[in-house]
Amino acid sequence: MNTKITSTAHYVPERVMTNFELESMVDTSDEWIRTRTGISQRHIIGENEATSDLSTRVAERLLEKGGISPEEIDIIIISTVTPDHFAPSTAAIVQNNIGAKNAWGFDLSAACSGYLYGLETGRQFISSGKYQKIMVIGVDSMTSILDFTDRDTCVLFGDGAGGAILEPTDNSIGIFDSILHMDGSGGNYLIVPGGGSRMPATVESVKDKKHFIRQDGKKVFKFAVKGMADVSERILNQNNLSGDDISLFIPHQANKRIIDAAAKRCNISPEKVMINIDRYGNTTAGTIPIAMNEAVESGRIKDGDTILLAAFGAGFTWGSILLKWETS
Ligand code: UT7
Repeated sequence: MNTKITSTAHYVPERVMTNFELESMVDTSDEWIRTRTGISQRHIIGENEATSDLSTRVAERLLEKGGISPEEIDIIIISTVTPDHFAPSTAAIVQNNIGAKNAWGFDLSAACSGYLYGLETGRQFISSGKYQKIMVIGVDSMTSILDFTDRDTCVLFGDGAGGAILEPTDNSIGIFDSILHMDGSGGNYLIVPGGGSRMPATVESVKDKKHFIRQDGKKVFKFAVKGMADVSERILNQNNLSGDDISLFIPHQANKRIIDAAAKRCNISPEKVMINIDRYGNTTAGTIPIAMNEAVESGRIKDGDTILLAAFGAGFTWGSILLKWETS
């Protein structure tokens, strides 16, 4: 049984934070952020907004766009590293919010590769033959773990969510290949040290800012360029495809320079690369499904198109997915 994406949606919080606003918070400049990353602005959650709220908006839009009732959803998979709580899962909160009373589900943690891990997991459930409709949402509220006095991280991230409905198909190819990787030896280069069982929250851990994300940007950059380019090239090769065969490349949006390097290695011309990092920054698990829905809504994806997805993130985790677009 093949798996296809039958609808897509995204949601970003209303509040926009520009690079100029960050200039007044840390020693940075709009020029530095734009030239080093490609980011001009990002959306950030409001005071009473959290990851399940962004996810619920996406879930509601998916149901509406797909003409699906909440009772039809079998599984809800939410890829995130910024859940509302450790327990209950964000998936359980969304299940209740939308009234998906026949669904079970779970949160999945793979950082920036979360959406690829989620799609592949959903695909396996569909191919089991037991499930008909799976909602896969990629979402992060990165500003909830950002130190707005640390210019190395606070300029890079934003908040947002996107998602898709996966369904079985007899007559189209759908998601047809995936390569996923993990290398835990890179774990310390991009980490939120505190808050888990290794370092439960204490007054000291909060004072020492252990609950914020920190990264060795240079190190991660090097691994990301190689990881994303290698895995994109490999999935094309093993399917006897070249960059010319790709209708649209939808990469994780961490840094425009990483995206350009991966596209170049695969000989994918710039007009076939989906880029929205300028408006959203790095929304971690949200980047690929947000970009995918924007591409669908703007007509950049049409039935019959071959789409390449690729990501690299904390863990390290990375991977690529190939799919043939056909919603109807
Ligand atoms: O999605 C998860 C995976 N994450 C990533 O893929 C992120 C990977 N890393 C990156 O995207 C890049 O490494 C960064 C954007 C984080 C940094 O870019 P870079 O070109 O590697 O800059 P750098 O770290 O080499 O820093 C260059 C200079 C340094 O100053 P000196 O030593 O040359 O005087 C930094 O101190 O830029 C300085 N700098 C800044 N200046 C203004 C670092 N951050 C900032 C800042 N504003 N925000």
